[in-house]
Amino acid sequence: KKFAIVNRETCIACGACAAAAPDIFDYDEEGLSYVMLDDNQGTVEIPEELLDDLEDAFEGCPSESIKVLETPFNGNPNKEA
Ligand code: F3S
Repeated sequence: KKFAIVNRETCIACGACAAAAPDIFDYDEEGLSYVMLDDNQGTVEIPEELLDDLEDAFEGCPSESIKVLETPFNGNPNKEA
């Protein structure tokens, strides 16, 4: 199981993540990313078929703002494993 969330405090709106994973991430009007599946709460499991895209986005984020854990974030991007 994988859960994902964007740390919107550190996202620099670079625009890479939704290019890599368009079914997971979208941008708000300021260009800051969020996880579409759960309004960036990190509570909805990322579907199996999107895990490769998630990995690409995770590795491609220049500010390491995409967080991935095996347990839900419950809205807290600073949550540790
Ligand atoms: Fe932000 Fe990283 Fe995406 S900087 S726009 S979360 S690739």
